[in-house]
Amino acid sequence: MGKKVVIVGGTSGIGLATAGRLIAAGATVVIAGRDKDRLNSALAELGAEAQGFVVDARDEQDLARMFAEIGPVDDIVVTVTGPAGTTPFREVTRELLQSHVSGKLLPHIAVVQAALPHLAPGASVTLVSAASAGGSMPGTAALAAVNAAVEATVPVLALELAPVRVNAVSPGVIDTDWWNFLPGDARADVFAGIAAATPVGRVGSADDIAQAIEFLIGNSFTTGIVVRVDGGARLGSPQ
Ligand SMILES: NC(=O)c1ccc[n+]([C@@H]2O[C@H](COP(=O)([O-])OP(=O)(O)OC[C@H]3O[C@@H](n4cnc5c(N)ncnc54)[C@H](OP(=O)(O)O)[C@@H]3O)[C@@H](O)[C@H]2O)c1
Repeated sequence: MGKKVVIVGGTSGIGLATAGRLIAAGATVVIAGRDKDRLNSALAELGAEAQGFVVDARDEQDLARMFAEIGPVDDIVVTVTGPAGTTPFREVTRELLQSHVSGKLLPHIAVVQAALPHLAPGASVTLVSAASAGGSMPGTAALAAVNAAVEATVPVLALELAPVRVNAVSPGVIDTDWWNFLPGDARADVFAGIAAATPVGRVGSADDIAQAIEFLIGNSFTTGIVVRVDGGARLGSPQ
């Protein structure tokens, strides 16, 4: 592969699994996240082909500094997450909505803007939305709004930034640290319920999504799409 890929949010979960896959395919990877210890343990796991930066993707100057230091970049992946968990609509406050917007939507846009001056010819951008966009699960109004907004940028950017390719992956329920807001037993119960209601009979792994991201980076004829990787959950429960 021989490419340099920057993964903002690459210190955990889907981003870290993507880094591992891309390194195995011959890429050099730069991962970024806010927590230094998390970054260091991810770098130890990934080995010598990975570099890392402590960066808060909500801070545009932090992002600009990082990309200036990295230099030319072949591909960027954004796996930054906002607040985890669901909230009944009647309890959704302005502050909660703002934290979803500032925690996920704005960083996704800010990372792409900061990377633009450094993107090599033939570069790609891969964003990560969520199945809540276009879904109907009670309690996910804030998640749905922000993830639908991330998805809505994809076709626009694919035209406006062409020939840079811009795509997104929309994951279903994936077993990562995102779910750490639930204690172990509750999390196992929730995953069992979701697995039973999903056609493939399981929740997803971070590598399920990393595989789709690797495809979007590698396929130079694909742009402007959102790939749904949700085990068929959008179809409803199997009988
Ligand atoms: N897991 C699921 O079920 C699921 C389902 C649908 C969609 N998604 C989406 O998939 C993406 C990845 O989630 P995940 O499950 O892999 O979660 P995760 O394991 O919690 O990983 C999130 C990553 O983002 C980093 N991050 C968060 N805020 C950041 C910021 N402001 N600046 C820089 N890095 C930041 C985290 O590191 P630090 O905290 O150290 O900064 C971490 O590396 C998210 O956009 C999430 O919404 C997940």
